[in-house]
Amino acid sequence: MSGQKSSLRPIVVAANWKMHKLRSEALEYLEDLGTWMDDHPEGLGTRVEVVVSPPFTSLELAVEHRPPNARIYAQNMHFADQGAFTGEVSPAMLRDLGVDGVLLGHSERRAQFNEHDAALGEKVVAAAEFGLRPMLCVGETLEERQGGHAEEVVRDQLETALGDLDVIKATSSGLSIAYEPVWAIGTGETATPQLAQEMHAFIRDTLSSIFTAEIAERIPVLYGGSVKPENAHELLSQPDIDGALVGGAALEVDSFSGIVAAGLDVVSGSEARA
Ligand code: PGA
Repeated sequence: MSGQKSSLRPIVVAANWKMHKLRSEALEYLEDLGTWMDDHPEGLGTRVEVVVSPPFTSLELAVEHRPPNARIYAQNMHFADQGAFTGEVSPAMLRDLGVDGVLLGHSERRAQFNEHDAALGEKVVAAAEFGLRPMLCVGETLEERQGGHAEEVVRDQLETALGDLDVIKATSSGLSIAYEPVWAIGTGETATPQLAQEMHAFIRDTLSSIFTAEIAERIPVLYGGSVKPENAHELLSQPDIDGALVGGAALEVDSFSGIVAAGLDVVSGSEARA
């Protein structure tokens, strides 16, 4: 594995708002983020992509006030296009709003809402069919890591959720993966860049075996778990860490934009070296 970052993949920095922000707060955030992005046009939208993932109630507003060059992702969806599924939202409904993509299988959904890999497989396929960019979240718990099963768990999650996705759709859908070790989410505990890099390289190998090596080289693999402006640069400098899925530090534009700025700095450094 070379120590260079691949120019085949952008850096993707995604804000997962989780269950935060009323519409007025969402609007203020999007306007401030848009201003910051306007002031930093170089590389944004091409080498560094920005994603904002609000709760359902702010999705329409986020699409209407989407900062130029940012993408709006939902945090979940059902796999069916319609039906008797009280409380659920379909991929057709998200497309109808103009949403760009969707987070799937976040560990909070797996642990608290019975999200299973098999249903996630159907969601990934449905997102791709409806033109929504899937971001599949995977990651092991502390017990699984301490028991020496981290790789096995992550491989199983990837194989089950991606096994039915057409090879062509693996890149044309805009698929990305977010590796979020459960023990690092919202705990202030970040995986070391080296540990994260090892798992990301393993994920890329697994993607090669599910699809092809060429396709695996094009799928961004983001890291998530207590990413903040202070640790973003070192994480994003790792050859197989292609971005960050950020919770707590993404709730304020100042700290989220600090992470985007770290991404811009990393790509400009690697372009200068190339
Ligand atoms: P965190 O959350 O940055 O607050 O750890 C990340 C996530 O759950 O996506």
